[in-house]
Amino acid sequence: MKFLRLVLFATHAAASPLPSSVGSAGEIDSRVSQLLEGLSREAKIGQLQQLPGHLPAAEIESAVRAGRVGSLINVTDPARLRELQRIAVEESPGGIPLIIGRDVIHGFRTIAPIPLGLAATWNPELVEANCAAAAAETRSVGIHWTFAPMIDIARDPRWGRVAESPGEDPFLARRLCAAMVRGFQGDDLAAPDRIAACAKHFAAYGAALGGRDYNTTWVPDQQLWEVYLPPFKTAVDHGVATFMTAFNDLNGVPCSGSAFLLDEVLRKRWDFSGFVVSDWASVTQMVPHGIAADDREAGLLAIRAGVDMEMATPSMAEHFASFIDAGKVPPERLDELVGNILRVKLALGLFERPGPPETAVYPPEMAPESLRLAEQAAAESLVLLKNDGGVLPLPAGSKVAVIGPLADAPADQLGTWSFDGIAEDVVTPRAALEADGAAGSLASARFVPGLAYSRDKSRDGFAAALEAADEADVVLFFGGEEAILSGEAHSRARLHLPGAQEELLAALHATGKPVVLVVLAGRPLVLEPVLPLVDAVLYAWHPGTMGGPAIAKVLRGELDPSGRLPITFPRAEGQIPIYHGHRNTGRPFNPDSWSHIDDIPVGAEQTSLGNESHYLDLGHEPQFWFGEGLSYTRFRHGEPELSTTELRGGGTLEVTTTFTNTGERSGHVVAQLYFRDPAASITRPVSELAGFRKILLGPGESRQVRFELAAEDFAFPGPDGEARLEAGTIEIMVGTSARDHRSATLRIEP
Ligand code: GLC
Repeated sequence: MKFLRLVLFATHAAASPLPSSVGSAGEIDSRVSQLLEGLSREAKIGQLQQLPGHLPAAEIESAVRAGRVGSLINVTDPARLRELQRIAVEESPGGIPLIIGRDVIHGFRTIAPIPLGLAATWNPELVEANCAAAAAETRSVGIHWTFAPMIDIARDPRWGRVAESPGEDPFLARRLCAAMVRGFQGDDLAAPDRIAACAKHFAAYGAALGGRDYNTTWVPDQQLWEVYLPPFKTAVDHGVATFMTAFNDLNGVPCSGSAFLLDEVLRKRWDFSGFVVSDWASVTQMVPHGIAADDREAGLLAIRAGVDMEMATPSMAEHFASFIDAGKVPPERLDELVGNILRVKLALGLFERPGPPETAVYPPEMAPESLRLAEQAAAESLVLLKNDGGVLPLPAGSKVAVIGPLADAPADQLGTWSFDGIAEDVVTPRAALEADGAAGSLASARFVPGLAYSRDKSRDGFAAALEAADEADVVLFFGGEEAILSGEAHSRARLHLPGAQEELLAALHATGKPVVLVVLAGRPLVLEPVLPLVDAVLYAWHPGTMGGPAIAKVLRGELDPSGRLPITFPRAEGQIPIYHGHRNTGRPFNPDSWSHIDDIPVGAEQTSLGNESHYLDLGHEPQFWFGEGLSYTRFRHGEPELSTTELRGGGTLEVTTTFTNTGERSGHVVAQLYFRDPAASITRPVSELAGFRKILLGPGESRQVRFELAAEDFAFPGPDGEARLEAGTIEIMVGTSARDHRSATLRIEP
């Protein structure tokens, strides 16, 4: 029996203050108090309201002039923003500047890969730099606030918003979240090239039943604390300025009415000092959710739970005064909400500089460095999943046929949530490869779409595509899904390549020419039907403005494919949910006891044949594992060496592993450290990511990769959220994916 000794860690840490040159937290708070003293109740209530920019201009102006609005969303014209700020400051009763918000999820005008692609870079520094570039473009036009990072753990590729997510793993998500908050906010929210970030969607939005967007979520407290809340805690620890509530009901309570999330966790346990905005109409959606009889009651629930600002609907502001007069809400509650908002506005420097300079233009110019960063992110997001016979990289002088509905689809290449991206800015794979043909690095690149768009079912274009294939040395097929098939409200129950893409691939396969499949998609797709038809697969997500050159350089070998999967790929929809950090079960998969459904004898007796956890038709393994990705070279890694085999509470452990490039080409390897607690007071995941590092190794080069972990890194939260460190053994696993690693054993003595 495992001797169980617990060391509990307090998780009531003080949040990082809002980073601002305007003043210290104390100085800002005293200015908040002064401002509140000078505001009427109506002026205060006006701060709680965010209005959408699509409303008639006159309606917006009169609301601003009357002091009935504290924030606008989706206004991008600098001159209009300057005028609206002038009205707010000079003509409204309170004189409080507006905070202007926008969804800058993976770029403003320069569009980086979708966040799932950014996650595939496993390069937080690069992600941070891309977010900083986006912040500079955004602030330059007078927008102060992005509704990002979206840090919803996503383990269901049917969910459209997996595209915006950091993937399935809490550790990777936390590292990316920290990078994005740092990138957007920097160390001074008042700087002319920084914006307030927003941790969303709080919380567990990605756990939607069936992967159907907006659907119910039932998440046990244990899983909330283990999986869905950690990235949000990281956001608070890094001084995120705002939070956004999620649409879903969580364990029976819509998040916009959840005092557990917004007060107990966010304020009391995490000491968050920024403000909380609802999602679009998520307050009044508590009526259809079924916990509010009408908008008025929904507004009361949101106020009591801890929403500070209401996006798009007026239920809080409309009734706040009557709630106070009726004794339903204490007057000081209004000062708390408005104080949270004013704190962020002050930290942003809005009282010194509310609007953009006269020189501001929309769309802003794209700095060369921004484009370079976007291309580097696109290149490092590419995941090589198959490369039979070394068909990639393409030999110099290859004649390529560029085929498929996403070879020349600029708007789709930008992906979901790319409102300010411009299709004309995009360099598509077709354009990049044709340029390579013209420059001589390829003999030629002939483009024939074959299909007009990803859902196209027509075979009319097949003949021309096959003719191009016949004349080429290799076929590059650009398939996947249009951007509109991913993103909010765009969940899919079937995850195959849409339209007639599978048929066209079969026809191209039949030509006998090597076929390289490049997938542009906002989610893992089910590729099993086409894997036998292609020699190589390069997964490109929706790679953004510079996706074309990035893909072309990797296809030609000028760059190596260094992306690794941030999410597990199922072999079929029926395997979902499938992710690396699962529990082992009492009857874990045993390849010796699995008989494929086709191998079961006809008339077999009803026995418990193969009574382990698997599918008769698909077994247990995913199509591709978390952390996986091939390279153009080969790597070997040694056993992890531990600085100690016994770690006490408060102690640190060094894990050192040698990685060697055994091939003839340079290549990046993502060294990954996982651990497993095989016998704890509750079941633990079979693998928990606890470290990673992306390194470049030259041919034949070896390098020691060193990870340093504290004893507390092996603690895990209970259903009460309190982290606990237990005595016992820990299996340390270091390798190149959740499947490929080598182990060493550590003993924990708290
Ligand atoms: C949307 C999304 C949210 C976004 C907001 C403003 O419905 O759920 O992520 O930031 O509305 O566009």
